[in-house]
Amino acid sequence: MALTYTLITGASTGIGSELARVAARNRRNLILTARSADKLEALAEELRTAHSIEVVVIPADLSQPGEVPRLWDAAVAEGRRINFLMNNAGLGAYGPVSAGKWEQEKRSIDVNITALSALCSLALPHLIETGRSRILNVASVAGFIAGPGMAVYSATKNYVLSYSIALNEELRGQGVSVTALCPGATQSEFFAVADMQSSRMAQAKLPTAREVAEYGYGAAIGQQVVAVHGLQNKMLTWLTRILPRTTIAKIAGRTMAPT
Ligand SMILES: NC(=O)c1ccc[n+]([C@@H]2O[C@H](COP(=O)([O-])OP(=O)(O)OC[C@H]3O[C@@H](n4cnc5c(N)ncnc54)[C@H](OP(=O)(O)O)[C@@H]3O)[C@@H](O)[C@H]2O)c1
Repeated sequence: MALTYTLITGASTGIGSELARVAARNRRNLILTARSADKLEALAEELRTAHSIEVVVIPADLSQPGEVPRLWDAAVAEGRRINFLMNNAGLGAYGPVSAGKWEQEKRSIDVNITALSALCSLALPHLIETGRSRILNVASVAGFIAGPGMAVYSATKNYVLSYSIALNEELRGQGVSVTALCPGATQSEFFAVADMQSSRMAQAKLPTAREVAEYGYGAAIGQQVVAVHGLQNKMLTWLTRILPRTTIAKIAGRTMAPT
């Protein structure tokens, strides 16, 4: 019988590398992807040694056209079956839209929205055929709000949240569940990549990527549709049901501001 694998995007650092570790502890074979081949190889070696699992590394730049189909073809080569897809790769650009960071904003749309949707679309016939499959899409609490200071990033995560809920509903009865993991601010490379270490948010005491990954993994296994990590973040998402979006945007803008 063919081995089954978990495909994880953005597995080189942060939440993605911790998702790989938690999946490995649960004896899952892995396919790891991100741009940093050296980090992926080091993680693969660590996990093969610690857990005697199969780990395949496929470096890819998901912001580039054609990379998602190439990744998918390489992932299912040699008869590999995938029954867990973790769309975790993502990035943001910090600052007002007027700051002119379009290249980075566009890259966040390409990775957070386009690559995630393309990978779901390519994988779904395979996941349905495999049966008892899971998709974990990493959204954010930013997906519940309009986020001044990270307007494009918040909008991409609104997309991921909405898309994941709809997809889960479409797939009812077909053996594939979809979970949108919504972390709040978390320790990772995210703030450095987004150039936002000066923000209030980045300087608060934050949960570790491991805590978030363990929570997200459990939520996906439990077929939870929307999984908001942490009590404070859950309270924030409850507030979004009560207060007008414009009021929430004012509060979010203050949290996002530099100290
Ligand atoms: N940290 C937070 O506060 C937070 C909060 C809510 C949601 N999230 C979400 O959590 C997910 C993981 O982020 P993180 O916090 O763990 O940040 P991170 O440490 O910066 O990790 C991001 C991952 O995405 C990969 N990536 C970035 N651009 C890519 C590209 N063009 N092609 C392929 N892979 C790419 C990176 O790998 P390479 O650089 O090697 O390509 C890295 O593995 C993201 O979707 C993020 O939006 C994070």
